[in-house]
Amino acid sequence: MTANDSRPTRVGSNTQLVRAGHNPFDFHGFVNPPTVRASTVLFPDAGTMEAHGQKYTYGTRGTPTTDALCTAINELEGAAGTILLPSGLAAVTVTFLAYLAAGDHALIVDSVYGNVRRFCDTVLTRFGIEVEYYDPSLGAEIETLFKPNTRLVHLEAPGSNTFEMQDIPAIAAVAHRHDAVVTMDNTWATPLYFRPLDFGVDVSIQASTKYPAGHADILMGTASANARRWRRLKHVHGELGICGAPDDAYQVLRGLRTMGVRLERHQKSALAIAEWLEARDDVARILYPALPSFPDHDIWKRDFKGASGVLSFVLAVAPGRDFKVRAQGFLNGLSLFGLGYSWGGFQSLALHVDLDDRRVLRAPNEGPVIRLHIGLEDIDDLKADLARGFDAAG
Ligand SMILES: Cc1ncc(COP(=O)(O)O)c(C=O)c1O
Repeated sequence: MTANDSRPTRVGSNTQLVRAGHNPFDFHGFVNPPTVRASTVLFPDAGTMEAHGQKYTYGTRGTPTTDALCTAINELEGAAGTILLPSGLAAVTVTFLAYLAAGDHALIVDSVYGNVRRFCDTVLTRFGIEVEYYDPSLGAEIETLFKPNTRLVHLEAPGSNTFEMQDIPAIAAVAHRHDAVVTMDNTWATPLYFRPLDFGVDVSIQASTKYPAGHADILMGTASANARRWRRLKHVHGELGICGAPDDAYQVLRGLRTMGVRLERHQKSALAIAEWLEARDDVARILYPALPSFPDHDIWKRDFKGASGVLSFVLAVAPGRDFKVRAQGFLNGLSLFGLGYSWGGFQSLALHVDLDDRRVLRAPNEGPVIRLHIGLEDIDDLKADLARGFDAAG
């Protein structure tokens, strides 16, 4: 019996985060796992080599460090297996390559992360896969878009930049009736605030770059499958050779330990900022599912346990004024909020959202959409900084 055998089986999410993936007594009692870097793995004899008769065989197929992270993510997601990828984008693209083939039709939510749309419109199309974007407000009605060759439905909730929620169980039920794979980008909520596989999703995808790593210095992605879909994902991952690095896996596992407390703080501050923005005349709309006035709030409340720190608002602009000029004025007036794309770290960020690539959804017409990532700074300082932005926007 090891020291860990006395662990209680049902524990809270923060307790789970502190312990997941590594039993210190498997490695001399050290609290963190060793970083095992590898290309070459040796075999004791020719027979073992021929049979691949040992747990580790080659660096691309995993080391004890990448396994520690995969085990932790399996536990958090309730998954049969997890693959590691060198970025969140690769976690989505490799998942699509695992389940799609020439002649297939894929349904992709229109509020999808922009670089996934570019992959679909270039690489998937070139490989003879038909891609169709659907309205995130579709629930069971998505069935009207199914074709005999529809093999995959991709969800992202809330959607990138505009934060529409989706009726995930209703979409998953329809997709499964048609034997299509359901994949979901769950980066915004993390498995702490939403567990996709419990709601009928087959593969849950996260950019661990964001909240799991949490310090704006790592790129990594995970894709976690249920028992039915795991084998295919594992094999295609191995065949493509697009693997996550042990040093990055170590850092993401380290980040996971504090993700719960960081998310609590992101959530509390983001809600406070959203409420503060809502009271301002120079803001036309707030796009944040945790806000009761947001149109999809009820669906968020029904399915999610919490909200993270990314939200958008629409700057109110008088008719005839240039949206871009006002947006840039606002952004240039900020000093604590950094101007940057990759969110989920400790620092607050802002950017002007480009919605020109949307096919189904219409961009808000009251003014430019500004996306904020609310970091770990003091809330009064963030409000003062945003107020400087509004002053600068005129
Ligand atoms: C929702 C979402 N998914 C995936 C990604 C891609 O993550 P990465 O930067 O690790 O490629 C991003 C990046 O911003 C994102 O916002």
